[in-house]
Amino acid sequence: MGQLNSEWDALRARHAATKDRTILSLFDASDRAGAFTASTGDMMLDYSKTNIDAETRERLGELFTAAQVPAKRTAMFSGHPINDTEGRAVLHTALRNLDGGPVKVGGKDVMPAVLDTLARMRAYATEVRDSAITDVVNIGIGGSDLGPAMAVEALAPYHDGPRCHFVSNVDGAHIADTLRGLDASTTLVIVASKTFTTIETMTNARTARAWMQEHGGDPTKQFAALSTADDLTANFGIPAERVFGFEDWVGGRYSMWGPIGLSLMIAIGPKAFDAFLRGGQAMDRHFQAADWHENLPVLLALVGIWHAQVCGYASRAVLPYDQRLKRLPDYFQQLEMESNGKSVRMDGTAVEVETGPIVWGAAGTNGQHAFYQLLHQGTRVIPCEFMVAAVGHEADLAHHHKLLVANCLAQSEALMRGRSLEEARAKMVKAGFTGAELERQARHRVFAGNRPSVTLVYPTLDPFTLGQIIALYEHRVFVEGVILGINSFDQWGVELGKELATSLQPVVEGTAPASGKDGSTAQLVDYILRHAG
Ligand code: F6P
Repeated sequence: MGQLNSEWDALRARHAATKDRTILSLFDASDRAGAFTASTGDMMLDYSKTNIDAETRERLGELFTAAQVPAKRTAMFSGHPINDTEGRAVLHTALRNLDGGPVKVGGKDVMPAVLDTLARMRAYATEVRDSAITDVVNIGIGGSDLGPAMAVEALAPYHDGPRCHFVSNVDGAHIADTLRGLDASTTLVIVASKTFTTIETMTNARTARAWMQEHGGDPTKQFAALSTADDLTANFGIPAERVFGFEDWVGGRYSMWGPIGLSLMIAIGPKAFDAFLRGGQAMDRHFQAADWHENLPVLLALVGIWHAQVCGYASRAVLPYDQRLKRLPDYFQQLEMESNGKSVRMDGTAVEVETGPIVWGAAGTNGQHAFYQLLHQGTRVIPCEFMVAAVGHEADLAHHHKLLVANCLAQSEALMRGRSLEEARAKMVKAGFTGAELERQARHRVFAGNRPSVTLVYPTLDPFTLGQIIALYEHRVFVEGVILGINSFDQWGVELGKELATSLQPVVEGTAPASGKDGSTAQLVDYILRHAG
C-alpha cells in the first residue's frame, strides 16, 4: 500500500473548496443531523457539527477503502502478527470474546487460556471481596494504571468492594501519600506490570513490600501480580496462584480487559466486570459488521483524520460531561498518542502526512471555567469530542444532571454558532455603550464560531457502556493508524528516555561522573548534587 497520495489530494481539494462555508449553513439541508449521526444499540454519535458533507464523507470513505482497513481489521481479529516491529499479534479483543469462537495465534486457540485466567480472576476477586481486606493498592504505570484507575472512578456507583488506590509515579510522594493511613494487615498490593521490569513499578513494589513487612502485614499472602513474566513474578516472591498472566499479544494500553483489570473487578465485582467486557465485545461486533457509513469507530476515525490530517488542526479535546470520567482524557491520551505518535510507516519509510494529534481534555463543566476561553476565542481551532449520559446516577439530584446536559449541548452549539460582530454590537448597545467604546467593546465579544465538534450520547454510564466507549476509541485509533500506514501497537519512542534515565541514575546519586553529558545536563546534575548535599 502506497502513501494514498491521490486520496489525500482529493481530500485537500475538498477542504480548499469547502473551508470558507459555515458548519451552521449545512443545517439548511433538511436532515443534516440525522444524516450525520450513527448509532449502535442505545449509543449515538452525532458528527453533524463538523464541516463534513456527503461528498467529503465519500472522499474519506475512499481513503478508508484504499488503506484496506477491512482486510487489516480481519487480520487483527484473527491473530495475524500485525504488530510487526515486535512480531506480535494484537488480540486484546480476545480478552472480551466471552462467547465468541476460537481465536488462533500461530495455529493455537488462545481462548481456553483466556477464559481460564478470567475464571481464576473471578474466583480471586470474590475471595478478596469476601475477606477482611479493606484496601487494594494497584502499583503500575501507563497502561498498567490508567485504565483501571479511570474505570474504578468511572464506575463508582457500582463499587461495592474494598477501597482501591493507584500508585504509579516513582516520586516517593505518591506511594508515601497513598500508604499513609492504610492498615498494612488489611491491605492487598497488586503489582501490575506486563514486563515486570518497569523501574517505577518495581521501585514502588519494593517500597510497598518493605512497608507491609514493617507494619504488620504479610507480603507472602498480601501481594498479587499481573504480568506476562512468570519468572520475574516468582523471583519477586509472589506465588503462582496469585499471579494472573497474559500474553504478549495484549498491548499495555489495551490491557485493562484482562488481568490488568483485576482491581476494577475487585471493586465492582465479577458480574459488573463481565458487563464491562460485554460492552467491549458488543463494540467489536459492531466494528466488524457495520458498513463504514454506519460504523462508529470508523466514522470517529474519519472525522479525526479530516480534522488532524486534512484541516491541519493539531490537537483534539476530549470533554466528558461526567465528573467520574475525569481521568478519561488521560486514558485516551496514552491510547492515542502512544499508538499513533509515530513518524515512520510499517515499511520503514517516512510518513508524509501529520500523524497522531495531541489529545487532551478535562471533565465538563470544570473545563468551561479553565480553558474553554481558548476553544471559543483563541486563534487555534481545536475539534472537541463531547460525551454525556442522558441520565445521571444521582436520582435525587436529577436537576444537577439536567444542568450538566444543558451545558454540554450549549458548548457544542456555541462553538459552531459563534456570535457575529452585529450580534455583539446589539448586545453592547442594550448595555448602554455608544461610539468608539461600543465598537471596541463589541469586538471583544465576538465569537468566530464554525468550530467543529462531535457528541457521543448514551443512556447512562454503566459498566456495559464504559466497555463500549473504551472499545470504540481503541478501534478508532486502529483505523487511524491503518490509514496513516503506521504500526499503532509498538512504542519505541519511550525507550530512549528510559535508557538515559538508567545511565543518569548513578550520576545523580553522585557515584558516577557526568562525563559525556551535554553542558546543560551536566550543569543541572551539578545543581542537584550541590543542593542535595
Ligand atoms: O511507557 C511505556 C510503557 O511500556 C507503556 O506502553 C506501558 O503501558 C507502560 O510502559 C507500563 O509497562 P509495564 O506494564 O510493562 O510495566
